[in-house]
Amino acid sequence: MESLQAHRKNEHVSLAEKLYSQSHANHPFDQVRLIHNSLPEMALSQADPCVKLGELTFKSPFYIEAMTGGSMQTAKINAQLAALAHRHGLAMATGSLSVALKDPQAQASFAIVREKMPTEPVIANLGASVDPKQAQKAIEILKADAIEIHLNAAQELVMPEGDREFFWQERIKKLVSQLSIPVIVKEVGFGMDKKNIARLQKLGVRYINVSGRGGTNFAAIENRRNHHFDLSMLNDWGQTTPESLLEARAVKDPDVSIIASGGITSPLDVIKAGALGASAVGVAGHFLHTLLDEGNDALDRELDTWQEAILRLLTLLGCHDFAELKQAEVVLSPELISYATQRGL
Ligand code: FNR
Repeated sequence: MESLQAHRKNEHVSLAEKLYSQSHANHPFDQVRLIHNSLPEMALSQADPCVKLGELTFKSPFYIEAMTGGSMQTAKINAQLAALAHRHGLAMATGSLSVALKDPQAQASFAIVREKMPTEPVIANLGASVDPKQAQKAIEILKADAIEIHLNAAQELVMPEGDREFFWQERIKKLVSQLSIPVIVKEVGFGMDKKNIARLQKLGVRYINVSGRGGTNFAAIENRRNHHFDLSMLNDWGQTTPESLLEARAVKDPDVSIIASGGITSPLDVIKAGALGASAVGVAGHFLHTLLDEGNDALDRELDTWQEAILRLLTLLGCHDFAELKQAEVVLSPELISYATQRGL
């Protein structure tokens, strides 16, 4: 018999998949257009896919974002994703290791990720209420290169069994000052605004993943799980990923890396996120969908396509690497312009 937590991990995966197609009715990245460049003045062979974020180097600008672990079913998913990450030289984050801290039997479903990808960056994941000792334990299970600390107040408040107290800032400060590997603070699909981004900077955070609305929707997922209390009014809650990246433009410190995730479904979305200022891009729900719906080989082919398409798009825009995209020109939809104007961005 698996634990209640393990059961929840399986439910998250199956509901993320069930709700996947519904989440793309209004694709937020359609509100961003790139300007065509007729004179690229570079060769495809000059396009470099590597990105550098502080102390981290990824061989590709996109990576497999935090999803799962903690049950037999999710161990298999982690093993498949990690094997593909290894084959394609991608970084990968696991789902929250909190279940592995409570139940040692659950550790193998995470450790398999490091076994399958001995050389690529592996990113651990935990909630913001943990202390440095717990974080250190999670890092050891994965021999992690970085750790993501997720901010998921909206999800917890919709979850029937979720947390009800959110005093996280001092804890984040402690984690950043005491852990020796990069600490990425991330949302889980509700986005971030400039005030919270500034707060995180003040706490010493140098890696911020805005993870915006537009893809996997944890309010909708938890509302499906919660049959006793209707919080479906939160199903459209939060800032989209493009809105969050506009909010993040207030960050002027070159030592702070902004990471995008939330609703990334194509290589063009990856490029658009880079043009809006992201230094790297995480993809969760879309890759999970390809794996579950079409299988391992389909995801393998898709990762090949994404890597090649990104190089070609960089070349078309005359950008030698992903960082140069920050200079690319974009045109925003009237809705996005209105958002930026009202927010003073
Ligand atoms: C997630 N996500 C997530 N995030 C996190 O920080 N810790 C976690 O344990 C999980 N668990 C999880 C399970 C499943 C099944 C999915 C699909 C997603 C959130 C994820 O990392 C990301 O922030 C959001 O899903 C938005 O990105 P996508 O899915 O729109 O690409």
